[in-house]
Amino acid sequence: SNAPVNVTVTGAAGQIGYALLFRIASGQLLGADTPVKLRLLEIPQGVKAAEGTAMELDDCAFPLLQGIDIFDDPNKAFEGANVGLLVGARPRGPGMERGDLLEANGGIFKPQGEAINAGAADDIRILAVGNPANTNALIAQNHAPDVPAERFTAMTRLDHNRALTQLAKKLNVSINDIKKLTIWGNHSATQYPDIFNAEVGGKNAAQAVNDQTWLEDDFIPTVAKRGAAIIEARGASSAASAANAAIDHVYDWVNGTPEGDWTSAAIPSDGSYGVPEGLISSFPAVSKNGKWEIVQGLEIGEFSRGRIDASVKELSEERDTVRKLGLVK
Ligand code: NAI
Repeated sequence: SNAPVNVTVTGAAGQIGYALLFRIASGQLLGADTPVKLRLLEIPQGVKAAEGTAMELDDCAFPLLQGIDIFDDPNKAFEGANVGLLVGARPRGPGMERGDLLEANGGIFKPQGEAINAGAADDIRILAVGNPANTNALIAQNHAPDVPAERFTAMTRLDHNRALTQLAKKLNVSINDIKKLTIWGNHSATQYPDIFNAEVGGKNAAQAVNDQTWLEDDFIPTVAKRGAAIIEARGASSAASAANAAIDHVYDWVNGTPEGDWTSAAIPSDGSYGVPEGLISSFPAVSKNGKWEIVQGLEIGEFSRGRIDASVKELSEERDTVRKLGLVK
């Protein structure tokens, strides 16, 4: 039988952690043939709650779950890790400027990057979920110089999935009919959900929609502001859907994306589509042989160009800020 895969989850006692851990343990992260060992990282105040979640995981008697260890030290939590889901992050407090937020997250993602560099397995794959996810991934990557840069990714799959459903509803089709949708840029309000290269039932999705007003005034803001709408309605931020997207991202990374389609993932830029090299920006992406690749050769019209550039500019500014703080090169 297969050897167990070590999955480290940070922020394990948080609300995304609670939605995520049971799905990992049930086999949905890596597949039904892959046993897992969970390594949960929390801050000291979160350890007791993580222990409670571990009790519930035990009580599920998941056949694939071969162990649960709980840590408050990143060096221990990332020892031997094959997959790292970086969920725990510092939320923006009242009156907090973006620079303060990035600095506070540097205090989390720098030591985690160092721990990954020191102890993770050679095949480590990292997904940053905790916000600001793209730049948090960049900080961790910068402190793991021995790990291939491409192993550090950030999550825009939730935005991708949100966009799929909004488009399917508009066109009154099934999710399965929509292919080749893209989220570009930062996981923030500037993100750009692109339907110009998307297909619905084999036809161009933008032509099928044929409604620029809906695109600009409804679709794009609905996708970009969905997180706030969930908080407003639920009284808490999206958790199960975020966990679901993390599962989708890692499952596809490990097992490959389906033929004839792509997804969205924030991965290190190689300069494609004018995105400065090294930024961890969302692209149309396929996974082949366990590696993400940026889909090449798409036509980018003037409208898309402006939206992509605006989001990438924000990412560049975040990088400048963390550079000034000495958190990235
Ligand atoms: P939460 O506040 O319920 O849980 C966060 C957990 O992280 C807490 O248990 C906290 O103790 C822990 N934590 C804080 N610092 C830590 C550290 N240094 N090491 C280990 N654990 C640490 O938050 P929730 O709802 O689970 O969200 C987590 C993050 O995910 C937030 O930053 C949120 O903004 C982000 N998010 C990202 C999405 C995306 O699409 N990329 C979607 C939804 C949320």
